[in-house]
Amino acid sequence: AQMMHDMGHMGASGAHDMPMTRGKPVLPEGQPLRELPRLMNEAGEAGLFKARLAAEPGLVRFADRLDTPALLYNGGNPVIEAREGDRVEIRFRNGIPDEPTTVHWHGMPVPADQDGNPMESIASGSERLYAFDLPQGSAASYWFHPHPHGFTAAQVYRGLAGIFLVKPKDDPIPAEYGDTVLMFTDLRIAEDGSMPASNMIDVMNGRVGDHVLVNGQKNPVLTARKGEKRRLRLFNATNARFLRLAFENAAMVLIGTDGGLIEAPVGIDELLLAPAERVELIISFDRPGAAKLVTLDYDRGWMGPGKPEAAGITLLTANVSEEAAPNVPLLPATLRTIDRLAEPAVTRRFVLTESMEGMEMKFLINGASFDMNRIDEISKVGQVELWEIVNQADMDHPFHVHGTQFQLVEREKDGAVTQPSYRAWKDTVNVAAGETVRILLRQDLPGRRMYHCHILEHEDLGMMGTVDVRA
Ligand code: C2O
Ligand code: CU
Ligand code: CU
Repeated sequence: AQMMHDMGHMGASGAHDMPMTRGKPVLPEGQPLRELPRLMNEAGEAGLFKARLAAEPGLVRFADRLDTPALLYNGGNPVIEAREGDRVEIRFRNGIPDEPTTVHWHGMPVPADQDGNPMESIASGSERLYAFDLPQGSAASYWFHPHPHGFTAAQVYRGLAGIFLVKPKDDPIPAEYGDTVLMFTDLRIAEDGSMPASNMIDVMNGRVGDHVLVNGQKNPVLTARKGEKRRLRLFNATNARFLRLAFENAAMVLIGTDGGLIEAPVGIDELLLAPAERVELIISFDRPGAAKLVTLDYDRGWMGPGKPEAAGITLLTANVSEEAAPNVPLLPATLRTIDRLAEPAVTRRFVLTESMEGMEMKFLINGASFDMNRIDEISKVGQVELWEIVNQADMDHPFHVHGTQFQLVEREKDGAVTQPSYRAWKDTVNVAAGETVRILLRQDLPGRRMYHCHILEHEDLGMMGTVDVRA
């Protein structure tokens, strides 16, 4: 494919601009890892984060000499960085031609009417202000993306997603480790550089692309010195790609999940990062040479042809020098305390199913498809609840709840029950095919909150419900 690409450009007749002469686009690999752009804070005062954000069409150069039409936030995938206790005011403009959108603050404890719910969509050409306060204890790795019902999947795969970092007042992680965002997206790119529309298989399984990118790059390179430790924040911003990850030639320690730091570091060999999940890791580059972040095989369940290969993708390469890093501080043995949520006052059960209705695939929660005018559950502010999510379908469904963070209690499959070995705050949990997952949660703010499968095509198809949290 590379040869055809180059030959097209060597032709003397000017025919090199014709798509016929091109092969599948080749994405450059091995370039230095770039940082995502920061959304600048325009506020002149401490304690306030203020900015303008626009969703608009733009061009991205993923492959050499090819422009890919995309949808972008301020021309890219920006990182917002604020602190616990800050007020956030973001004036948003929908510059997407002919489509409604919203900005959903995934995982963040924002008031329901500021959370970019599908009921509050913003028409093309319109603006709105999103305003909320970041409470103490909310430091974590969040992200934001559109949530207009029926349009979410396509707006996200075309490029709309950003990172929202809430930093704590006192960070127990040594500053010497740095703080690196790795945002995973999934790109499908045609010969002419465009992103093809989704087909039936994409809609059933969730769209999986041809290339997993890190901050928009294929297999970028990070440089490190021997003995160095790095703090990496991983974000699965793909529509439907399950990433079972390992770090070859480096030691991996888990320090945080969706809702921030865990209580103590946990050494791990691998992890599964389902769509929308995040982790914070400390990587120790103890040996010189190349250390690689790679994917391992994982069976997430697949309907029809075209099952993508899960294993053997190198996402990122770290080049570790012979020269040792001086004075690398130790990772503290404890990071924070997380109290277990109290005994639940209420238990709810959510059964996830797939079914074929005529030619149409249905993805349902408790037999129902999403209706924004229907309330599925009524809850109370401050009430601890046990949610039991039962996956009776043939594929994994990553289950997400808006407006709060929850605690995993246990997983059950084929009669075997397993409890997590550490306590963590999560807003998305994978529920494997045939599995039951139990979580404890509490909503601290009133209003309507969505819960849904975070395979975005399933969400658009209606695998979503509404809980009305009453004061
Ligand atoms: Cu990131 Cu309702 O989703
Ligand atoms: Cu969300
Ligand atoms: Cu699903």
